Amino acid sequence: MTDRPTASSFWLAVATLWWRELVGFHEALGGQDFRLAPGAEARWRTYLQGHIGRRSKLCLVALAGPQPVGFLLGSVQARAGIFMEREVGEISDVYVQAPFRRKGVGKALVDAALEWFEDRRVGRVRIRTDARNTMGVEFWKTLGFQTAVLTMDRLT
Ligand SMILES: CC(C)(COP(=O)(O)OP(=O)(O)OC[C@H]1O[C@@H](n2cnc3c(N)ncnc32)[C@H](O)[C@@H]1OP(=O)(O)O)[C@@H](O)C(=O)NCCC(=O)NCCS
Repeated sequence: MTDRPTASSFWLAVATLWWRELVGFHEALGGQDFRLAPGAEARWRTYLQGHIGRRSKLCLVALAGPQPVGFLLGSVQARAGIFMEREVGEISDVYVQAPFRRKGVGKALVDAALEWFEDRRVGRVRIRTDARNTMGVEFWKTLGFQTAVLTMDRLT
């Protein structure tokens, strides 16, 4: 089951804990670009709070009974006025706690988000994931996401 949380210190504490795990997960993939700046955690909490109770932003929590086991953040982004498609949906974060994976929780979060975007008549939803995150890549592919844009990095 998914739910839209209201801001509460409990929820923010849980989500912050997960965020640390998510950051640790990305760091373990070997990406130098995921190293955190001082104060990152407080900034992320502000970012998270900005997704609660807003019309163009989405914060979902997945519940296993009363227990929160995962979350998703999404938003509607304006595109440059030159495009026919004026808005694009973005799912910026999805996280499911390790013991609850491969039980359909991630899919339930994304399905609920897609419904939310559809209600807002947003016809395209975009995600970004580290190319080394094979778990994430397989997950998105299974849910019907296809590579549309390649971003490429080079160190100077
Ligand atoms: C990616 C993640 C959100 C998936 O959550 P989940 O609850 O395990 O996903 P689901 O159970 O809904 O999986 C749906 C389908 O995606 C695919 N999938 C999910 N995890 C997979 C994996 N590790 N390897 C291969 N395919 C996978 C499967 O087809 C799965 O269906 P199945 O279990 O019936 O075969 C979770 O593993 C996670 O939090 N990972 C760490 C953070 C992350 O990578 N976030 C996403 C990228 S930004």
